[in-house]
Amino acid sequence: MDTLLIKGGRRLNGTIAISGMKNAALPILFACALNSEPCILHNVPEVSDVETTLHILAASGCTVTRLSPTTVEINGASFRAGTSPATAVSTIRASSYLMGVELGRFGFTRIAFPGGCKFGVARPLDYHTRAFEIMGAEMEVSGQGFYGEAPEGLREGKIILDMASVGATVNIMLAAVLTHGTTVIGNAAREPHIVDLANFLNMCGARILGAGTSEIRIDGVSKLHGCHYTVIPDMIEAGTYMCAVAGTGGRVTLTNVIPKHLESIISKLTEMGVTVEEGEDRITVISTGHLKGATITTAVYPGFPTDMQPQFGALLCVAQGMGIINEKIWDNRFAYLDEIAHMGVTVTRSGNTAWFPGGQKLQGSSVAATDLRGGAAMVIAGLLANGITEITNPHFIDRGYDDLIGKLRTLGAYIDRREVFPESTPITVNARS
Ligand code: UD1
Repeated sequence: MDTLLIKGGRRLNGTIAISGMKNAALPILFACALNSEPCILHNVPEVSDVETTLHILAASGCTVTRLSPTTVEINGASFRAGTSPATAVSTIRASSYLMGVELGRFGFTRIAFPGGCKFGVARPLDYHTRAFEIMGAEMEVSGQGFYGEAPEGLREGKIILDMASVGATVNIMLAAVLTHGTTVIGNAAREPHIVDLANFLNMCGARILGAGTSEIRIDGVSKLHGCHYTVIPDMIEAGTYMCAVAGTGGRVTLTNVIPKHLESIISKLTEMGVTVEEGEDRITVISTGHLKGATITTAVYPGFPTDMQPQFGALLCVAQGMGIINEKIWDNRFAYLDEIAHMGVTVTRSGNTAWFPGGQKLQGSSVAATDLRGGAAMVIAGLLANGITEITNPHFIDRGYDDLIGKLRTLGAYIDRREVFPESTPITVNARS
């Protein structure tokens, strides 16, 4: 069990490169299992969710070769449906994409319950299973997980999502790529990672139109071919460092970004008093560290991302004036506020709204990462706090932040990782005879 140690109060300055986007890399990696030819993916982030995905793919028969730390070759020729390892599947949410892949390629799927960060009573997959049923599969949910079959293969269909779900849009695209006829997704998610998945699949010979709009049409093809593809930069990783420098003050340039994807984050930081200079593939964030309160309402893309809400929550604690967060995507995504409370800050909550009185001081303390982005919020809170903050459960943060410590140190932060031995494992020292 490790912990992160942060000594707060340092301004951040310098330049760092943003890694590939976890939420684009995971569906693209699973999509490789639709393909009997090898695909080479570049700009794959070194994060634990990618490691888990590669493990699942290898255990299911894919040949996985790391060509460099951020380049992976996947050959799905020997991929087998229904053979994914339950333990790994149950640790990430993206493993649900195996259902679309397996049904689309083999007309059969069996997977354990996918895991991932827990917010909301449960993170449902009913849109996914309903869509597969519209496409002709019989789906069953049991104590073991999900089972589905379409002995004649899937068929084309029109699926209108109740909500523009990222996961369901991905899963339907994966299921439809090799399905005869035209599948239409109405009220589709428009996130950049949806466009990236479509671009990757189209480069492999798929015919997907309209990704990035709310109607996606997939004309099925009989097979895919291999390709080289570069994953887009991670807008949430970029947004997290933007929040960090906004709070500490300083001047930080982020390279390897797509500024267009950051519009809602830039707009909110600007409203809070931060200067953001945009280049073609870089941005520079300049902050005095004196922030104004703001109201944030999460929404589907291009609205304000739910995955940035906790990081802004850390900023709203110290900003001058009232701040409000309305979380509209997930119930119960405020667990991180219980941890921030240990740092001497009071936030009022009711349902999915939180009120930050602002102008408070964060005091270093021992806190936990409650989930991936909640953990990122604690890192930012630690950077802004007086004294030392110790964050337990950093494995949540490892899921989505490539070289967090190295990047923050490059910017001048005091941050370290400490290995803590479990009490049940006494360290024995052999006596000299
Ligand atoms: C969501 C976020 C994504 C973020 C991820 C992890 C949105 C639209 N999606 O993606 O940006 O990276 O969480 O934080 O912001 N829903 C159902 N049934 C389903 C699927 C979804 O009711 O079968 C509901 C969910 O309860 C939720 C909403 O739809 O309220 C959006 O869910 P979805 O986009 O599918 O979640 P993720 O793909 O995990």
